[in-house]
Amino acid sequence: MLFMSSPYADLVLGWYAVNARNLPWRAPGVSPWAVLVSEIMLQQTPVSRVLPAYQAWLGRWPTPAALAADPAGEAVRQWGRLGYPRRALRLHETATIVTSKYAGELPSTREELLALPGIGAYTAAAVAVFAFGRKHAVLDTNVRRVLSRVESGREFPGAQPSVAEYRLAESLLPADDAVAARWSVAVMELGALTCTAAAPRCDDCPVAQRCAWLAAGRPAAAERPVGQTYEGTDRQCRGRLLAVLRDSREPVAQARLDAVWPDHVQRARALDGLVADGLVDPLPDGRFALPA
Ligand code: ADE
Repeated sequence: MLFMSSPYADLVLGWYAVNARNLPWRAPGVSPWAVLVSEIMLQQTPVSRVLPAYQAWLGRWPTPAALAADPAGEAVRQWGRLGYPRRALRLHETATIVTSKYAGELPSTREELLALPGIGAYTAAAVAVFAFGRKHAVLDTNVRRVLSRVESGREFPGAQPSVAEYRLAESLLPADDAVAARWSVAVMELGALTCTAAAPRCDDCPVAQRCAWLAAGRPAAAERPVGQTYEGTDRQCRGRLLAVLRDSREPVAQARLDAVWPDHVQRARALDGLVADGLVDPLPDGRFALPA
């Protein structure tokens, strides 16, 4: 693989040194487990909501073995209102595998990480890079947007990262592994704070002089990425049902679930989905519980 290195890495790294947020998962000496927990939580949830959940989770389960020793339902309960609760189940499965197969230590290569439940291409690369100092491109939505604008002159990248995008991101990595890891988190931060989706602040951008999109007059994309609606969706209904189970130490009767969502067709569909996903156990007596 050819690493040409970014011609503007120094600019971005200098900007990051001054502007980086002080986030707990970026502190020196943070465990690989903590990095994984942060990356899984941050995938679909904003930093401000992740912060308290991250602290509480690691306070309770500082190691994979600690989580593996508790029932999966406790992981779902602790996940609380972060959303997309299958992430909690997958994290519990991963903790169980890491405990039995890897003596409680997360594996350090991208390939081994990718084989664990709930760890996709992005998360495997992020953990290999941020927790183990390996050298890979880390392409989250923020990084992809920055590179799309600076390098391709397009306001937004496509729905999925292309092979060409991976090649480009790899070619931009600084030669030194530790600097490359810092570069990845710096570009991510630039996307989160300055090169934002809705209101980019080009006046504050360290690479404004070299940005193809800015040079072209910031042309608007034909199709804007769509935000996800929540009100009235099956996802909201699932959240309501799961909250009833989370808030109860005992299994709950059907009537308790019926009370939190009026549309019975949608409610039945949502409950079926929760059961199919392993997030809810139907008990022989007709009640429902978090998984054992
Ligand atoms: N730092 C490292 N990974 C991060 C992420 N996914 N979101 C925000 N900050 C991060």
